[in-house]
Amino acid sequence: MAIRLTWLGHASWLIEAGSDRIILDPFLTGNPAAKCRPSDLGKVTHVLVSHAHHDHVADVHNFTASGEAMLIANFEITQWFERHHGVKRSVGMNTGGKVAIASGEILMTPAFHSSSFSDGSYGGCPGGFVLKASGKRIYFACDTGFFSDMAHYALGADLAVLPIGDLFTMGIDESIRAIRTIRPAKALPTHYGTWPPIEQDPHAWADKVRAESDAEPIVLKVGESISL
Ligand code: NI
Ligand code: MN
Repeated sequence: MAIRLTWLGHASWLIEAGSDRIILDPFLTGNPAAKCRPSDLGKVTHVLVSHAHHDHVADVHNFTASGEAMLIANFEITQWFERHHGVKRSVGMNTGGKVAIASGEILMTPAFHSSSFSDGSYGGCPGGFVLKASGKRIYFACDTGFFSDMAHYALGADLAVLPIGDLFTMGIDESIRAIRTIRPAKALPTHYGTWPPIEQDPHAWADKVRAESDAEPIVLKVGESISL
């Protein structure tokens, strides 16, 4: 059983593992990089959210309000969606905690960032995730700067998905530091190219990854997938 990741643009990913179809940080509506709408994605079992910023939660209600998909996020985010969108099926968690899913488990890691809703509400601590499923381990750093404890959570992961957009998160140089620290087999860039302030050349990033680490860089276009 393989895991398949599809880049939906910005920091949104579709993760398919066995019977699980998980969307991470759904931001399709109003996303200039997105190539599909929420209704194009078919059945979704879980929505995983790293923090409350609009570019990570814009479409959460489109998948969770009907009760179809289970929302997994920090406690403050699940409470906010319960209050504002009547979301009933949710698991509120926090840093260091794990949640079981059919194909494996998801652990919430720290992230150095901020987390507030666009109405100013507190959005809890920002996080990243380690997904263990189908015998693979994938680290989604989500929105964060570099921190050396990434190695504690993700050392030797099969894949590290790291932001490279700079300004709001790590840029290319810091992502290389992260890769040298985590030593994943493969690395994928995310959170870039959506708007001019986070424009980056992913091929320049890939050249640097090859030159300065042992990881295999993988550059996807929006809508493309990788299977592990
Ligand atoms: Ni953010
Ligand atoms: Mn963001």
